[in-house]
Amino acid sequence: MTDTARIADHDIHPLFINRWSPRAFTGETIPENELFRLFEAARWAPSANNSQPWRFIYARRNEGRWTYLLSLLNPGNQVWAENASALVVLVSRTHHQRPGESETSPLRTHALDAGAAWASLAFQAELSGWRTHAIGGFNRTAAPGVLGIPDGYSVDIVIAIGRQTDATTLSPELQAREKPNARKPLTELVAEGRFAFD
Ligand SMILES: Cc1cc2nc3c(=O)[nH]c(=O)nc-3n(C[C@H](O)[C@H](O)[C@H](O)COP(=O)(O)O)c2cc1C
Repeated sequence: MTDTARIADHDIHPLFINRWSPRAFTGETIPENELFRLFEAARWAPSANNSQPWRFIYARRNEGRWTYLLSLLNPGNQVWAENASALVVLVSRTHHQRPGESETSPLRTHALDAGAAWASLAFQAELSGWRTHAIGGFNRTAAPGVLGIPDGYSVDIVIAIGRQTDATTLSPELQAREKPNARKPLTELVAEGRFAFD
């Protein structure tokens, strides 16, 4: 990694700074076993009470319900995500019925837990030679109907998965953004003992 935007101040595994979210994808087919390897990594994420609230709804490019998943994305995301090899909608269970209780109760940490699963999937993808790009810009109103998601679930993100290709395949506007970005310094993010931030 030579980009100056990505120099770690502490000694960490390169995986953490090598993962980034490109938009230029080859559109090649992702074998199902490769895709399931990523779900397998996500499956082992930690969650509150081991509730595992994450659910994954996927389509591989130009197969099955691919066009339905793609159509949920905002136009600005569709334009590049149409060349991903797979789209994965990450859904998390917001409520559950505890044993012995008749009413459902909220799973307060569902989005946090789903975030851990997304990170695991993204890092396994990186290790397997695939790239991921999370997408929050999609039609959240239409998604439950299009995907048959019942009440009690939150549609959190869509994840584009693909093999990266040359940035010149993108519009000039997106080409300009096609590079790893930086991070805030730890001094702005970490405090000992008491909140000490702006
Ligand atoms: C929850 C979430 C929603 C995002 N939504 C979009 C999106 O709608 N469109 C997009 O191009 N990128 C989206 N991104 C990508 C972020 O902009 C990107 O992860 C961030 O700038 C950090 O860059 P990196 O992933 O390359 O390290 C999203 C990322 C996350 C985690």
